[in-house]
Amino acid sequence: MNLYAFELGRKKELCFGELIAVLGEDKLVERNLDTAIFKLNNIDGLQDRLGGTIKIIEIFDHVPKTQISTSIEKKLKQFFQNHSGKIPFSISVLSFKDRKTINIKELLNFSKKIIKSLGLNCRFVNKGPISPKPSTIYKARVIEKGIDICIINGQSSSVYLGRTITIQNIDSYSKRDFDKPGRDAKVGMTPPKLAQIMINLAGPSNTIYDPFCGTGTFLMEAMLMGKNGVGSDISTRMVEYSEKNLSWTQEQFRADTKFRIFEKDARFLIKSNIPEKIDAIVTEGYLGKPLEKQPTQHEQETIFRELANLHLNWLRAVRQITNCPIVMCVAAFKVGPQIIHLPKFQELVKEAGYKVTETFTYDRPDQIVVRDIKILNSC
Ligand SMILES: C[S@@+](CC[C@H](N)C(=O)[O-])C[C@H]1O[C@@H](n2cnc3c(N)ncnc32)[C@H](O)[C@@H]1O
Repeated sequence: MNLYAFELGRKKELCFGELIAVLGEDKLVERNLDTAIFKLNNIDGLQDRLGGTIKIIEIFDHVPKTQISTSIEKKLKQFFQNHSGKIPFSISVLSFKDRKTINIKELLNFSKKIIKSLGLNCRFVNKGPISPKPSTIYKARVIEKGIDICIINGQSSSVYLGRTITIQNIDSYSKRDFDKPGRDAKVGMTPPKLAQIMINLAGPSNTIYDPFCGTGTFLMEAMLMGKNGVGSDISTRMVEYSEKNLSWTQEQFRADTKFRIFEKDARFLIKSNIPEKIDAIVTEGYLGKPLEKQPTQHEQETIFRELANLHLNWLRAVRQITNCPIVMCVAAFKVGPQIIHLPKFQELVKEAGYKVTETFTYDRPDQIVVRDIKILNSC
């Protein structure tokens, strides 16, 4: 077994929750500020199915801070033995509260001397004093052609040293998000990474159902994860978009799982609408009409009332059909530094036969409407 560090995306708790759901708490070695370290046999195929992990780092050493340069020297000598040409090279520092604790510039200069002494050539992707952005590492193809050394603050006074072995494929995410043929910015399309995270939070599944499928993001991501998908929406246009996008995903990514989309108001779902065995419901739900400015308190209350009604009714309907877990988004409002959540959601789901087992908030700095991600289990 090896130690691997997973660099967590922007919403750390949510990304960590995804890792625990996929890898299991028993494999966790430690959780740090930006990373979680797991003991695993291998990480085959993991990067592409984790929306919340920026990169996966294979740990090669665990040393006191005073031995960082000795450990890097050993690793570089070993690594560069098998390489020639101009090699892209970077040093990243993770999980330190104060990033200046490690002098990246000094370590880069130190590494340069070693590489030169080996008679080799390398291209520095970061010049220090800060870590390179993941997109810079990705674009410079450091993972394929060179080495990104990571220095990770551990819980004891020691640090972990590792080498990045996989990184999020930003081209693939962007293609799935922006190149799909059926798009409608007004509908509030779910970001593909968030869709992956939510599918993972639902636990192991073969078939997922999205009763508010819109343009089909959850079903597309499920398909890419080797799962079958069933989707429905109240809008004929959205049903067409989902169908188009799923056929496009099959074709573009050579995915070969099954999907079925139908038109239906989720409040009136009945058993015969879903004859398939569903393992999880993963959905964005309706977030209310798009808002350009901060809603007044009265507007907030009106939207919350409308959403509470919708959620109660569709949850009641699906509870009659299946008792599988649900991972869903619920709209919340950002008012200054505060987030106003849909009141009494816990009581609402209880009335429909569910309990909330976990909650995360997913927001972006510029958004008025933010997403509360809820995991529901039947009770
Ligand atoms: C936020 S969007 C879903 C976005 C979707 N996840 C995507 O990435 O495109 C909400 C969807 O719910 C649908 N909707 C609204 N009320 C509904 C209802 N009562 N039953 C079913 N679908 C509904 C809308 O047509 C819209 O497509």
